[in-house]
Amino acid sequence: MNDDVDDDMIDRLIDKLSPAQKVRLLTGATTWRTAAEPDIGLRQIVLSDGPAGVRGEGWDERLTSTLLPSASALGALWDEELLTDLGRLLATEAVRKGVDVVLAPTLNLHRSPLGGRHFECFSEDPELAGRTGAALIRGVQAHGIAATAKHFVANDSETDRLTVDVRVGERVLREVYLAPFEAAVEAGVWLVMAAYNSVNGTTMTASRLLGDVLKDAWGFDGVAVSDWAAVRTAEEPARAALDLAMPGPHSPWAESLADAVAGGRVPEKSVDDKVRRLLRLAHRVGALGPGSPGRPPATPVRDPRTLLRRAVAAGCVLVRNADEVLPLDPAALSTVAVIGAHAATPRVQGGGSAGVHPSGVVTPLDGIRTRLRGRARVLHLPGPSLGLPPAPVDADRCTDPRSGAPGVLVRLLDEQGRELHAEHRLSGRQLEPTLVPGAHTVEISALLRPGNAGEWTLGVGGFGRMTLSLDERVLLQGDFPCRIDDPAVVHVTPPLHTVRATLLSKRPVRLVARRELADGTGRATVLAAAPPEEDPQAALATAVDAARKADAAVVFVGTTEHSETEGHDRTGLSLGGRQDELVRAVAAANPRTIVVVNSGGPVELPWREEVGALLLTWFPGQEAGGGIADVLFGRVEPGGRLPTTWAASLADAPVTDTRPAGGRLDYAEGLHIGYRAWLRSGRTPAYWFGHGLGYTTWEYESVDAPARVPAGSPFTVRVGVRNTGPRPGREVVQVYLARPDSAVERPERWFAGYAAVRAEPGGTATAEVVVPARALRYWSQADGVWRTETGTYRLMAGRSAGDLRGETPLTVTEAP
Ligand code: BGC
Repeated sequence: MNDDVDDDMIDRLIDKLSPAQKVRLLTGATTWRTAAEPDIGLRQIVLSDGPAGVRGEGWDERLTSTLLPSASALGALWDEELLTDLGRLLATEAVRKGVDVVLAPTLNLHRSPLGGRHFECFSEDPELAGRTGAALIRGVQAHGIAATAKHFVANDSETDRLTVDVRVGERVLREVYLAPFEAAVEAGVWLVMAAYNSVNGTTMTASRLLGDVLKDAWGFDGVAVSDWAAVRTAEEPARAALDLAMPGPHSPWAESLADAVAGGRVPEKSVDDKVRRLLRLAHRVGALGPGSPGRPPATPVRDPRTLLRRAVAAGCVLVRNADEVLPLDPAALSTVAVIGAHAATPRVQGGGSAGVHPSGVVTPLDGIRTRLRGRARVLHLPGPSLGLPPAPVDADRCTDPRSGAPGVLVRLLDEQGRELHAEHRLSGRQLEPTLVPGAHTVEISALLRPGNAGEWTLGVGGFGRMTLSLDERVLLQGDFPCRIDDPAVVHVTPPLHTVRATLLSKRPVRLVARRELADGTGRATVLAAAPPEEDPQAALATAVDAARKADAAVVFVGTTEHSETEGHDRTGLSLGGRQDELVRAVAAANPRTIVVVNSGGPVELPWREEVGALLLTWFPGQEAGGGIADVLFGRVEPGGRLPTTWAASLADAPVTDTRPAGGRLDYAEGLHIGYRAWLRSGRTPAYWFGHGLGYTTWEYESVDAPARVPAGSPFTVRVGVRNTGPRPGREVVQVYLARPDSAVERPERWFAGYAAVRAEPGGTATAEVVVPARALRYWSQADGVWRTETGTYRLMAGRSAGDLRGETPLTVTEAP
């Protein structure tokens, strides 16, 4: 790692800068770049979202990115080696795109299943989230690319995320929500992003947690960067140890930090410290001129597609496999019915700033067809429509009216409607038009080939004055003022306004969306269209009929980027459309029904006991199809374990609230989130944290821990397991602790560590689970320090938080 920073050299550079030069460095130069300072050989540093890929600067569908599985899928891996490889893949992408800093990983927790960015976070458990994030960070940074632990802290849901004041006690903060960030700092992360929200009355960019905890207690020596536009005043964030305001060039710091320093309201030495951290980052990523050692040559991931395919299978969680319906044997099949819209149009990522343009998606239908080619017939029946808003038009169905090439024409017009700029693009979703001086209107036009006549739904998306026309006829016109502050909604996922239009023939029609580029209307413009819907009853009947006649039915269900997206929390956990009805009808028609769930976070599966097998695939990224087919047909076993407990229904879930009351969101459950909350409530979820089946079975034969452990020392637990099934396999052995007679409040039990082992059929293996000292400590609120209780604990080993297979007492003694 390029981490041998010479602070004396950096201080000599700082001495060369005037106060104005220093302050200028502390706000971005653009949306994605920091400022350069030629006087000291500092070039701009380029930042990019993240986390499931590296988008690069700007949103241009022609500049594609390699798309990894969503963070929830990575949380399901329980495999730090694989995570480090995936981090290396992100670094490879960053190098390819000229990016120095990846805005990943997201280390907030799955507090409520309704969290809109659940897909972008790893787990409900702080230890698992921390270990997962740390492994990814190590992989990214080993190649001279910076990772960013975000969003510090308690940004666990989206409702009013810019202003919500999260009320949470110090002990809960330290033990639960700050813990993954502490792990990231231990892993050497180079940036931490301060969140939009407040915690206990102070907005995070001005929070004492940046100074007291992140920098002083943990020794973080990197850059505390704001979330985008999260700095609202100059002085408090400057005094509170925030280092860099993004984006730029406008920010309260750019406008008035120099005055605050001149007036003595912000000490110059705190500005020096911020600049020192920024230059340290520049040095680490090779942005500090000839004095900088430059980036170590990244060892590129040679075959990203194979790595990603492996990661998809390794993250798939098989939660049910009645009568060993899976794996399917290709040699024993003659017809397979693949049912559901998600099979051919999978959701490979969630919505919001995390989005990238994948370089090509292998759909599950592609994966299954490839595997069964020449062996069995594959029928695809999409089933009833999901009733979604129309999707942006694209190169599949549209051509550019000027060039005739697949795609759309984007033009910028002046106030008189004269063309200033025109370019061919591939998508009707334009988030950053090439701006030219005098531009007044952005226009997206496309020739749409309807394919079939009938009632289409057409849409225009964005804010401000817009029109939508069909063959020169204006169908929709209006002024749609923007009353939303959230940048992810304003610039990335603005609302769509739709209208129905009957297209009488297959003749191409010309669609035109126009939007005036006024201040405060955001950057996005969308032209969307959806074909006529098939009669839902008929679609259902055809799917069920195909399932009945097939040897096996594989039903794909899932959510969409409309329900799982940044900027909004979910309102429910049901699958939507008629997907539940479809699954029930197919399962009734064919006992070999396998349901594959394509969602970033938990969904309700009310029919889960009625189907043969149930496989969760998350948002699997671009190699979805290959990895899922590998699991379905037994080329590999499903490797994932749940990083988060899944409720049978939202009504059962113990912690769900994401809606602030009076601007506050009270984390009233304290330490008890996730499985801890379920244990305390005495209720049983559909599937516990840690649950996941492979293709073999295991017996736990022994659990051995040292009889006495000194407080403050890590120790190793040895768990003997035997593969009692017919196939080789990998077992994720989990260790939990409990402290029945604790003098302080404790979770009923808590996750302390894991290790994975492999064994052949009949073979044994010993999992050596290292339990870190932190697993035993608690934060003493009264004294403001960590403490470890001496005395007896219960130590349990098992397959999930709800499936424990062995136990041993553990005595903790005074530290030596
Ligand atoms: C998100 C961040 C993201 C940033 C830049 C914010 O709205 O919360 O996660 O990195 O935008 O796109």
